[in-house]
Amino acid sequence: MIRLLFIGDIVGRPGRELVRRGLAAIVAHHRIDLVIANGENAAAGFGITPDLADDFFNHGIHVLTGGNHSWDKKEILPYFDEQPRLIRPANFPAGAPGRGVYVARTRSGVPVAVINVMGRVFMTAIDDPFRVVEAEIEAVRQEAKVIFVDFHAEATSEKVAMGWHLDGRVTAVVGTHTHVQTADERVLPRGTAFITDVGMTGPHDSVIGVERSAILARFLTALPQRFETATENPRLHAVVVEADETSGRAAAIHRLSLSAQDVEHLAALPVAAP
Ligand SMILES: [Fe+2]
Ligand SMILES: [Fe+2]
Repeated sequence: MIRLLFIGDIVGRPGRELVRRGLAAIVAHHRIDLVIANGENAAAGFGITPDLADDFFNHGIHVLTGGNHSWDKKEILPYFDEQPRLIRPANFPAGAPGRGVYVARTRSGVPVAVINVMGRVFMTAIDDPFRVVEAEIEAVRQEAKVIFVDFHAEATSEKVAMGWHLDGRVTAVVGTHTHVQTADERVLPRGTAFITDVGMTGPHDSVIGVERSAILARFLTALPQRFETATENPRLHAVVVEADETSGRAAAIHRLSLSAQDVEHLAALPVAAP
């Protein structure tokens, strides 16, 4: 069995600090073999920079996925070609920098393919994620039995449909982008772990990461507002997927929702010998 940790959208400094503080302890206590995280909001809510990506890789994240915010910081565009461990949705039209898949390896050498695709319902009309993901899976199937898909999408229905589309063909399909963790995690009948949305690693006394007074003013007056990333009540949202590396089937999926206090508590616990 191998255990994969996927961390939901890391938002701004509060999210980054929580990951920095807690990742080693989570990895130790849950005996994690590989860490994947969505980093599209790492830079104050909008995109990611080369320095922040390097930092995440140095702190133990193996693969970073993205979404609609992947392109927000201009300096990240050339970085995509230098650092293949930072991926972006595979279904952006040809010509976009970077790739939508990366095959990582656990310390014991198990290849794990990570694929990122983005939905089209209430989002930019890009290429069909349902067809593109099939092509990406076929391209890595010989190389990796364990395949992990981050489906970055707005509509619950589109994400649930993707879970059924890929059931029995990949190890896990997890949703990102809405920043609200859903309670529907399960292993589908043919062995694919699924959750509609992993949630957000960032400030939870906010409106999906953004400082709430500006959002409320926007709803109350319909006037444009300047949005700032919030800071209060950071929580780390993630899932742990247990999988059989020979078949690629998932055995279990567990949700994590940790406050800063929970993270401190975990970091202070002694680690049991393996
Ligand atoms: Fe996000
Ligand atoms: Fe997003």
